[in-house]
Amino acid sequence: MTVGQARALDELTDRYCLPVDLEPSAAENAFGRPGPIGLEIGFGMGQALLRWAVERPEWNLFGIEVYQPGIGSLMLGLERDQLTNVRIFEAPAEDVLANSLGGAEIDEVRIFFPDPWPKKRHHKRRLIQADFVALLVDKLRPEGRLWLATDWEPYARWMLNVLEAQSDLVTELAAGRELSDGPYQRLETRFEARGKRLGHRVWDLVYYKKRCSTASR
Ligand SMILES: C[S@@+](CC[C@H](N)C(=O)[O-])C[C@H]1O[C@@H](n2cnc3c(N)ncnc32)[C@H](O)[C@@H]1O
Repeated sequence: MTVGQARALDELTDRYCLPVDLEPSAAENAFGRPGPIGLEIGFGMGQALLRWAVERPEWNLFGIEVYQPGIGSLMLGLERDQLTNVRIFEAPAEDVLANSLGGAEIDEVRIFFPDPWPKKRHHKRRLIQADFVALLVDKLRPEGRLWLATDWEPYARWMLNVLEAQSDLVTELAAGRELSDGPYQRLETRFEARGKRLGHRVWDLVYYKKRCSTASR
């Protein structure tokens, strides 16, 4: 951890971080204003979330991460750019979704380059699992978007299987692609750059929630 990240964790946590056991309504009220709600899970060093916050100042954005240097790094960026539209949970995403964002209607969830856990015996540790995606879909508003990216093709196929089995999700984009393609522009993250250095192709999977989900019928 750098000196700056440690300083951010000491001095900026109260400003940007929310307790994991926060009431759902308190989490939504944390911004003190209405607005579309976005969520990035496993934001790493926070580059993509910071860019989202700059490009969409009217959005209220949540970030979830368990890696403290990354949280410190994001808070430094938020302070530097004087951004007030991001709040952070330092906890496993499963816990946050079950507790703090329980009543939220999220407009877009992004999960970029989650740990691929390549060994078969570790597949159960992968973040993208049927139960977890069901939880995410439950939190999405109708027509809300779920955007996943990975540079590990077997994980891309795994993700596709999980997403396609979710009857409330509809495919918007499911492709290996170059960043410059199409309307889905993303900042290249640290792990994406690493994957590309290793010669990996990048996969983006974008789904949206049906207007009338089976859960709400
Ligand atoms: C491979 S890194 C990708 C980071 C970043 N999205 C990027 O593309 O550079 C995966 C990140 O997910 C975080 N992570 C893993 N499991 C998590 C969980 N259950 N809840 C929240 N974050 C998690 C890790 O700490 C790590 O920073």
